[in-house]
Amino acid sequence: MYDVARVREDFPILSRKVNGVDLVYLDNGASAQKPRAVIDAVTRAYEQEYANVHRGLHYLSNLATENYEAVRGKIARFIGAGEDEIIFTTGSTMGLNLVSYGWAEPRIEPGDEIVLSVMEHHANIVPWHFLRERHGAVLKWVETDANGDLDPQAVIDAFGPRTRIVAVTHMSNVLGTIVDVATICRAARERGIASVIDGSQAAVHMPVNMAEIGCDFYAITGHKLYGPSASGALFARRERQAEMRPFMGGGDMIREVTREHVSYADGPMKFEAGTPGIVQQIGLGAAIDYLTGLGMENIAAHERILRDHARERLGGLNWLDLQGRSAGKGAIFSFTMRGGAHPHDISTVVDRKGVAVRAGHHCAQPLMAHLGVTATCRASFALYNTPEEVDRLVEALELCHELFG
Ligand SMILES: Cc1ncc(COP(=O)(O)O)c(C=O)c1O
Repeated sequence: MYDVARVREDFPILSRKVNGVDLVYLDNGASAQKPRAVIDAVTRAYEQEYANVHRGLHYLSNLATENYEAVRGKIARFIGAGEDEIIFTTGSTMGLNLVSYGWAEPRIEPGDEIVLSVMEHHANIVPWHFLRERHGAVLKWVETDANGDLDPQAVIDAFGPRTRIVAVTHMSNVLGTIVDVATICRAARERGIASVIDGSQAAVHMPVNMAEIGCDFYAITGHKLYGPSASGALFARRERQAEMRPFMGGGDMIREVTREHVSYADGPMKFEAGTPGIVQQIGLGAAIDYLTGLGMENIAAHERILRDHARERLGGLNWLDLQGRSAGKGAIFSFTMRGGAHPHDISTVVDRKGVAVRAGHHCAQPLMAHLGVTATCRASFALYNTPEEVDRLVEALELCHELFG
């Protein structure tokens, strides 16, 4: 039995007031709040267990290294991967850029194609634009349908003899659409196409498993996973990782440096130059322990209740245009108000009622263009939200409609 009231007690910030009323935090798609377990792990790491990692022979350096490296195994188990397939990053943006610079750039030739969906976050677009601008790659876009679903067959149909990479999101940060990435990755593998999956949202809301998905690369970001900002990881399948060249050079990623020559460390460390986000990753490890303790299946089931309630309540507002009606979507809702307020006005008004939502293009401008809007309001739910908070959102939107409608 998932006890959301009990879960909420784990998140100190949820008991604060905003504008004189109880906070309703529905901007989880942008970044999630932190449980006490993460805050304590970060504090302990700084107060009692801090030193640089991998370098020292003293007690604290060994302890910090042990704590930090243990997170690699936690992430590996969390996403069903091998420990040697986990490269620490500062988040999905770094992970996806690492694929672009480290794996793709040395291989891409003019006219080679990269297939991507129209609902990608800019983090899974701009690194491919770099390859278009600098190396003559061709970006091939696949549309979503009227419900905001991405038909895996439409992606596969876009594959041609020059396709080298397919880059798609596992869950849209705007529409909540969940993509059947396993089918896409299987087809890509059969054709020797590298598959790059943006798991920034999916890994937060459902169990994910690299063996089942069968992708080559999968990016996750810690701050959406209830961990610290600037933490995260890139899953890089062993065979692909062996093909990657390092992207940043410096300490920690080398085996030997002479005046004439440099050789690199083995495995993920080859891609982790410089002092890393030691405490950030330790905090992410605590977040993963916390999520594992609750159970990702339980979290997903709780969020389905929130999704269904939000779908019913928001769907009942006939002056609201909901974007993304995929049946199996996650609990992320984007909307505009018919003939009325700009999304920025909506978010400002609902904020006065203590409800935090996001407004803007959500770093997904090609999707906005596809939908024929410049911006939307987005309410994105998390493991600690409640059906009553959906109702608070609806009340605040009704007030907004009265003001602007
Ligand atoms: C789907 C998706 N991809 C990528 C990112 C980028 O993540 P980060 O800024 O943490 O690197 C985000 C963050 O909003 C996202 O929602």
